[in-house]
Amino acid sequence: MQRIRKVSALEILDSRGRPTVKAYCELDSGLIGAASVPSGASTGKAEAHELRDQEKRFNGMGCLKAVNNINVEINDALKGKEIKTQNELDKLLIELDGTPNKSRLGANALLAISISFARVAAKNNDQPLYQYFSNLADKPIKHLPRPTINLFSGGKHAGGQVPIQDLLLVPTQQTIMSSLDCTYRVYQAAAELSLKKYGTRALTADEGGLAPPFSSLKEMFDDALQSIENAGFVPGRDVMLALDVASSHFYNNGNYHLGDQVLDSEGMIDLLSDWVSQYPIVSIEDGLYEEDWQFWPTLKQRISSKCLVLGDDLLCTNPARIRRASKLGAANALLLKVNQIGTLTEALEALQLARGAGWKVTISARSGETEDNWLADLAVGWQGDQIKIGSITQSERLAKYNRLLEIEKEIGLPVINWPN
Ligand code: PGA
Ligand code: ZN
Repeated sequence: MQRIRKVSALEILDSRGRPTVKAYCELDSGLIGAASVPSGASTGKAEAHELRDQEKRFNGMGCLKAVNNINVEINDALKGKEIKTQNELDKLLIELDGTPNKSRLGANALLAISISFARVAAKNNDQPLYQYFSNLADKPIKHLPRPTINLFSGGKHAGGQVPIQDLLLVPTQQTIMSSLDCTYRVYQAAAELSLKKYGTRALTADEGGLAPPFSSLKEMFDDALQSIENAGFVPGRDVMLALDVASSHFYNNGNYHLGDQVLDSEGMIDLLSDWVSQYPIVSIEDGLYEEDWQFWPTLKQRISSKCLVLGDDLLCTNPARIRRASKLGAANALLLKVNQIGTLTEALEALQLARGAGWKVTISARSGETEDNWLADLAVGWQGDQIKIGSITQSERLAKYNRLLEIEKEIGLPVINWPN
């Protein structure tokens, strides 16, 4: 690997119009890798610290401090250095920051450099980015990840008309293109159904999911099944369902507040179990509050024969939390979001811990995204069982789906044979 000539950054805007960080890593040879980082809205408490300016610009959301940290301090530390591996780079960044949650330089600054380095290293090796990621994980590429795609949204990503954050489609087709075709038809059927039932094609949420004014959660499930059928598919055969309950965001003081319904942890587990027995659900993310450790193992016992018990806010892509969950038997799947932890190397450790525990892995985007598409390469290179990008509207989502289509054409492998 060549020496790094310089790293630099600028502020760009994400899909919510909020600032985020785009970084460049330039080698002595003149090769440049660029990457921009996403940002969550329904964030977990244990996530690495996203540095925001907290000033008047953009209502406090500016990223000029993070950008400046790259342009000055991180550049001073890296320029002229020959960095041989991703691990060496990320270690240096972590030590330079010096805090447990990356609050000094900002996880957004560190991740932008971590990924821009991966991009330039892949270019330097003359390999596609997914191959670089595959080599990092020391895993051959055997399949493509199965898309799990938002149909309906609520909670913090919409107007809160339902407390559940996302109801996702899991098409069972063998290719990315046929999965997207199926999703398109169901999405259009759902928009039509919404117009007929509620007099509106439904507002779209942060990740492009539809947000009709459902009067109940049952209505949300019924409309999903009806839309699948109206599009000519069979629920439970052609299309399965997944949920991101994101329940930390309606948990308060020992109870789960689902509109008028107030449930304790056991009540919440009963409700989730009922859904799993009634609907073709293959994955439930954050079914319980992120600190409700005591009840997660019960949830897993109750539903894991039929469905993944997937931890997002629970785990925060954090090796220590994954270890704890694995020891307790609290989950059987990891939602991996690189910006929750802040460097590729630490996210890789999270991936390997999850794999070591025999878990499935979903590689996930954030609700605030940019047009960057590295996530698709990461999901293929790290052999995610699922990929979660959002709906099939909005260009920041399509950038990743379209990259998956390119990769599919290039390597010609099928989507992983799950959950069939
Ligand atoms: P976030 O949502 O990016 O707003 O955290 C995505 C998710 O909860 O999976
Ligand atoms: Zn989530």
